[in-house]
Amino acid sequence: MSYRVELQPSGKTFDVEEGESILSAALDSGHQLAYSCRRGTCATCRARITSGTVDYGEYIEAMLPESKKAEGFALLCQASPLSDLVIEAEELKLQAQQPKIVPCRVHAIDRLTDDIIVMHLRLPQNAEFRHISGQYVDILLKDGRRRSYSIANKPSVHGVIDIELHLRHSPGGAFTDHAFSNMKPREIMKFEGPLGTMFLREDSDKPIVFLASGTGFAPIKAIIEYALSEGIDRPMTLYWGGRNAQDIYMHELAETWAREHANFDFVPVVSEPGADWTGRTGFVHQAVLEDIPDMSGHQVYACGNPNMVDAARDEFSRLNGLDDAEFFADPFTTE
Ligand code: FES
Repeated sequence: MSYRVELQPSGKTFDVEEGESILSAALDSGHQLAYSCRRGTCATCRARITSGTVDYGEYIEAMLPESKKAEGFALLCQASPLSDLVIEAEELKLQAQQPKIVPCRVHAIDRLTDDIIVMHLRLPQNAEFRHISGQYVDILLKDGRRRSYSIANKPSVHGVIDIELHLRHSPGGAFTDHAFSNMKPREIMKFEGPLGTMFLREDSDKPIVFLASGTGFAPIKAIIEYALSEGIDRPMTLYWGGRNAQDIYMHELAETWAREHANFDFVPVVSEPGADWTGRTGFVHQAVLEDIPDMSGHQVYACGNPNMVDAARDEFSRLNGLDDAEFFADPFTTE
């Protein structure tokens, strides 16, 4: 049995099999709706059902509080229809490649700090893999589990396809324990991708705030690399926060961007500064609130600790006037 789903305002329709998630049916039928985690843990896919009923599926309560459910919202990656539906959901102007399973080889592992490595994966010549800056991949572990990591480099223009991942060690973590102990170059792995709908909205000329905490810098780095290489001249400011200076593990790269591009600024912020830290202190999103009292004309791209991202989403719009629709975020995994 299947149900018919209509998207508003476009009026486009697609069918969803009983028990299938609305998001997965939408993507399979070529409707590019916003999503990220696909596990009910980020709220990127939250949309309002204006007609019909759904089984809400499993999700983290904070991503769909009762108050939101009462207003008609559901998480499309988890919800499946119990009747025909009408949903308010905008289709994205994103020409994303269909995700596929791709083999790859560990090309290099650079240890940047005690608990952060940068891993370079090389894809086969015939992989025909092309991501959009801001997307992520799911590493497929041998035991069937998967771990999501943002791609930290812009797409290769030609020839060799490399992707770069930033990993923070999470002791006991299914993938990072291996990556930090006995993983060697040339190891073969598989991933599924490209995934996610975080990408630079190039149809806007609004100044951009990039907000990252820790290794949440990875997708932000890919987007900034892309923007600078395309000569996008909108004002851009990167606020990158961590507990200490080591957490801002590629600060030299960000400083170089700021030196070489008049439209780019970099503000590192640490919450537990050591004696030798002379920069900004506190929580990174609070530095943005202090620096830009009126955010009504801005766009924000945020990635990192979910508490930071949630606080930023709420306070930027509630206190400093950011249009909710101009806040784009991606969840964060630590293991
Ligand atoms: Fe649905 Fe994250 S909650 S994509």
